[in-house]
Amino acid sequence: MAVLVTGGAGYIGSHTCVQLLEAGYEIVVLDNLSNSKMEAVKRIRELAGKDFDFIKGDILDGELLDDLFKKYDIDSVIHFAGLKAVGESVSIPLRYYQNNVGGSMSLFESMKKNGVKNIVFSSSATVYGMTDKMPLREDDPLGALNPYGRTKLMIEDILRDIYASDNSWNVILLRYFNPVGAHPSGRIGEDPNGIPNNLMPFISQVAVGKLKELSVFGNDYPTPDGTCIRDYIHVMDLADGHLKALEKLSENPGAVAYNLGTGKGSSVLEMVAAFGEATGISIPYRIADRRPGDAPVSYADPSRAAEELGWTATRDVIDMCRDLWTWQSQNPDGYGE
Ligand code: NAD
Ligand code: UFG
Repeated sequence: MAVLVTGGAGYIGSHTCVQLLEAGYEIVVLDNLSNSKMEAVKRIRELAGKDFDFIKGDILDGELLDDLFKKYDIDSVIHFAGLKAVGESVSIPLRYYQNNVGGSMSLFESMKKNGVKNIVFSSSATVYGMTDKMPLREDDPLGALNPYGRTKLMIEDILRDIYASDNSWNVILLRYFNPVGAHPSGRIGEDPNGIPNNLMPFISQVAVGKLKELSVFGNDYPTPDGTCIRDYIHVMDLADGHLKALEKLSENPGAVAYNLGTGKGSSVLEMVAAFGEATGISIPYRIADRRPGDAPVSYADPSRAAEELGWTATRDVIDMCRDLWTWQSQNPDGYGE
């Protein structure tokens, strides 16, 4: 029995693949490398000390998927593949709907055809939309604010509808909060294209000297230090969450969503301070205008995952910053060309 990992060469997928292999799972990875590199696949093999089949291909390719389900004895799918840049999704929405929603439908269609009905899907805290009510709970109202978020919400809805039509499916929707950090070895990590949009990769590129200073987007929010608060979660904890979700699938849970967050919010300035404490590097920053669309505060109530998956995050912001820095300092240009 094998687990098909779509998008397994990417940031969260690569960390999850290492842990799956270490836990003894057989995996097959499908990725079109649109936002990742073959070098990551090589390093997954190196870290886990195990081999697996990697297929360079697209989830939109139904024929390829059918062949794959016929060739391998796959019983579950972890579905990471997707485009994830919020700003880009506003400028090229069709590409996001086609790749994320169209690609997911093609995957689910092929799963159905081949009798594979177990899936863990990468959803996001972005499906909660804009709300002041914190912490966020899985049964809070949903409503996305941009095309990227809408693709996540649509895919969640599609999976809930598939389950409603056929109760023999097992669907786990993992709503990640803000994934950061890297494998403690520094061999795999996040390798954003161009100038990073997200806070922590930006900070680490300032630290390594690739960028001059951090722009803090707004210090007039209704928070203690005026900067936005997020629930940062170590990518190794996220990876653990996927293993717990896979185990849960065998209990026939139905279609259920889980927040993967720490339950603790940190402000932008607190993250700058944590990076300094973890690495001894002080990050030059200036206060800039607010970034349109940013929620002032977002953090999870992770109690459902604790109760039903037996999962809680164990790594703190210092661990996140230290491991991020190990990766960034050892790989200043990410995986390179
Ligand atoms: P990533 O871009 O590093 O990984 C996604 C992988 O999917 C990449 O390797 C890419 O090449 C591949 N891919 C994209 N479209 C594909 C397609 N059509 N066919 C085959 N492969 C395809 O991103 P990540 O940070 O590892 O995120 C993984 C998943 O988690 C995504 O679905 C993302 O939306 C979701 N998510 C990420 C975050 C975050 O902040 N990183 C937060 C919430 C949810
Ligand atoms: N920030 C800065 N300067 C920067 C980058 C970010 O001050 O250069 C601030 C932002 O304004 C925000 C905080 O740092 O207050 C975190 O921003 P990120 O871009 O790192 O993360 P977001 O919370 O905006 O977005 C993340 C994911 C999205 C996902 C969203 C909700 O990147 O994919 O969480 O789950 F949709």
